[in-house]
Amino acid sequence: MNQPVLQQVDYPAASLKSAKFIDGQVEVHWNSAAAPARFSPFWLRDHCHAKHSLNADTLQREVDTFSIPADISPARIEIKDGGSTLQIAWRHDDGASLFPAEFLWNIAQDEGRPRSPRRTLWDRDTLGKNFPSVSHEEIMASDAGLLRWLSLVEEFGFALTTGAEASLAGTEALVKRVGYVRETIFGGMWEFSANMAFKDTAYTSVAIGPHTDGTYSNDSPGFQMFSCLQFDGSGGDSTLVDGFKVAETIRKSDPKAFEVLTEIKVPAHYLGDGVHLRAEHPIIALDHGGDVKQIAYNNYDRAPFRLPAPRMGEFYRALALWHRLINDPAHEISMRLLPGTVLFFDNWRTLHGRHSFKGHRHMCGAYMNMEDFQSKLRVLRSPS
Ligand SMILES: [Fe+2]
Repeated sequence: MNQPVLQQVDYPAASLKSAKFIDGQVEVHWNSAAAPARFSPFWLRDHCHAKHSLNADTLQREVDTFSIPADISPARIEIKDGGSTLQIAWRHDDGASLFPAEFLWNIAQDEGRPRSPRRTLWDRDTLGKNFPSVSHEEIMASDAGLLRWLSLVEEFGFALTTGAEASLAGTEALVKRVGYVRETIFGGMWEFSANMAFKDTAYTSVAIGPHTDGTYSNDSPGFQMFSCLQFDGSGGDSTLVDGFKVAETIRKSDPKAFEVLTEIKVPAHYLGDGVHLRAEHPIIALDHGGDVKQIAYNNYDRAPFRLPAPRMGEFYRALALWHRLINDPAHEISMRLLPGTVLFFDNWRTLHGRHSFKGHRHMCGAYMNMEDFQSKLRVLRSPS
């Protein structure tokens, strides 16, 4: 007689095997090779997923954090639902706390911080001429098309779409497909040609070097959309530089300059048209994990500031290196935006500029907030 074959059970990564109270912490073990994770009883009670503690629809906390005893401890710990739920009965009250295994798993993997988005850093050679692009029809027709476009923008810091309606209304419809138009000193949806309607270089025909917009704003616009409505002339190509790529190059090649660019907050201002805005940002801002989070650079709009002599020298040296690298043709890509093509880019990552032009060039576009773009991506990616 053959030996009975033991059935192999495939547990999801987050499946719970056991849990115990040890050294004042609840230690959970997984049905996988992953290391056990420990959670404090107070943190667990504060993050209880039972109906009386958490609103299941909005994920808003309903437990009164401040009435949890500092010395709270478990009376009984059980694994339920075949490993998908942790249940804890507490010594201080009658109600039991519930925790989905997946929730504990995600917190244990990411330490509670959001994961960094998937990014592909690029320069002229690595990107080539295959610019990320999705057809306008696909974006407007389905959420899958929109998700594909936004995912490309997240990964590369920009993406194009072709076949769009070359009008202000058509561009606004595209912005609203993603989120809402951000109102700024330039209005909501803006249009420009070389007429100096605002006191800004964008409203001229001269070449503009790589920069990010809104360095004078505490919350610089997260995204920009550019749409060409009319072009009759020569030159005027739009240029893009991956600021994150340049930042990582400096991190490796010149750690001192990298430290200066991430530490010194550079003030910027906008004067005119009845406003006087002022804000300050480091040229390269890092998140808590040390990853590059935001580039803020516009030498035209830098406001006067002064540092003690050695530090001022360090700043100008680092600034010169930054300027040289972002203006190096090896980092720049360029494209001619013709009517029907729309450029959507991350203004916290991708520096933009344009070549000088002759003739008539009529553009429109809008700013969007970083948080609204991120919100749209989360919604599109969440299982329905
Ligand atoms: Fe700009």
